[in-house]
Amino acid sequence: MHGFHYLGRKLFCERVPVETLVRKFGTPLYVYSQATLADHFQKLNRAMSPLDHLICYAVKANSNLAVLRTLANLGSGFDIVSAGELRRVIAAGGDPGKCVFAGVGKTEAEIEFALRKGVYSFNVESEPELERINRIAGRLRRKAPVAVRVNPNVAARTHAKITTGTYENKFGIAYEQVEGVYERASRLKHLHLRGVQMHIGSQITTVEPFEQAVSKMLPLVQRLHRRHGLEFLSIGGGIGIVYEPALASGRPGWWKTSAAKNILTPRKYADRLVPLLKDVGLRILMEPGRFIAGNAGILVTRVEYVKRTGKKNFLIVDAAMNDLIRPAFYDAYHEIVPLTARNGATIRTDVVGPICESGDFFCKDRPLPPLREGDHLALLSAGAYGFVMASNYNTRPLAAEVLVNGRQAALVRKRQPVEQTWAGETVPPWLKTRRL
Ligand code: LLP
Repeated sequence: MHGFHYLGRKLFCERVPVETLVRKFGTPLYVYSQATLADHFQKLNRAMSPLDHLICYAVKANSNLAVLRTLANLGSGFDIVSAGELRRVIAAGGDPGKCVFAGVGKTEAEIEFALRKGVYSFNVESEPELERINRIAGRLRRKAPVAVRVNPNVAARTHAKITTGTYENKFGIAYEQVEGVYERASRLKHLHLRGVQMHIGSQITTVEPFEQAVSKMLPLVQRLHRRHGLEFLSIGGGIGIVYEPALASGRPGWWKTSAAKNILTPRKYADRLVPLLKDVGLRILMEPGRFIAGNAGILVTRVEYVKRTGKKNFLIVDAAMNDLIRPAFYDAYHEIVPLTARNGATIRTDVVGPICESGDFFCKDRPLPPLREGDHLALLSAGAYGFVMASNYNTRPLAAEVLVNGRQAALVRKRQPVEQTWAGETVPPWLKTRRL
């Protein structure tokens, strides 16, 4: 269930016609479905229920306070990667005691802040980081809970820019070195060795890489647990979602398509992983981001110009790569549908933004119905790694965000006023004296 569907010819988010949101809030506009966020969280939570477990939603996927609050209300923990994300979680009413703090470059200030707030664990990525955390904890007269991120050297078979679990990557500590690291860490007085963590990559669409990585980890985890008395094992995030047509849009019959049969569901994930994990004797943590937020959001945009060159049919829209960078950055596919459905002929279309770069496109040569200036399109599956990766490139203000809940809709982030894009900038005094 993705919360976005046509009723008659109109695209709805839950019970709200997306068109009414456009009229009220303008475009480019991110629209999120609260029911979908909750549904995805609960499906995974239920599937993993045979285990003592905690879902720590990866805040980086979508960190809007309303999204975080939705998940906090469901009992979610959070996977954070900066002090900023921790502050967001706290601002949204989340529990720092359910936060795991990941990332290869934690600064002293970030570590101190997280320690004072009482995070559940630091997921540590190097020995110098362990030493730094130990030093700061000593200064604060505390014990810092830590887990080492193990790099299991398993290929996730996903996009090169989002694979993390091989020795080509900067992440984690090599599998073979982990026991030595725990041994040395156990001699650091201000650390509490609370767990062990792994993460192999993102947008993984089959269960095998997870199964392979967990199977490889288990003997190591058991040895570490026996020696150091751990409390948890985090198996990371990375559950992939379906971006392809018909699925994301939930058209009638989508579940019969071959892509639907191959989709990695929480059930399939749990069926293979729960049996492996149930006798480990540790609490199991998961860090899904995209699985929860990806299909819970769309980006709505307005067609500004229809431009036909001899070779191409361009729709120039008012959203751009600064609003949603995934197609430009990863060649990612996002399904694109009109807010008002049209039957009949399609034409091969490039949907492009107004930014002065050829990389500023959302699709190329995609069959779309003929559209006119003033029509609106929705880019689907944009709830994860959409708004959070936005920038002010070309001095374009950040888009607005709306959360829908049944018949209700609320602006959960107002459109950035353009002056704010230069608000922190100043002209130095020597430039202010006017030349003669
Ligand atoms: N845990 C760790 C340690 C991670 O590095 C990540 C994602 C996650 C959990 C959550 O992964 P997920 O469940 O969302 O796959 N910007 C890229 C994705 C980058 C993912 C980075 N790490 C994209 O747009 O595809």
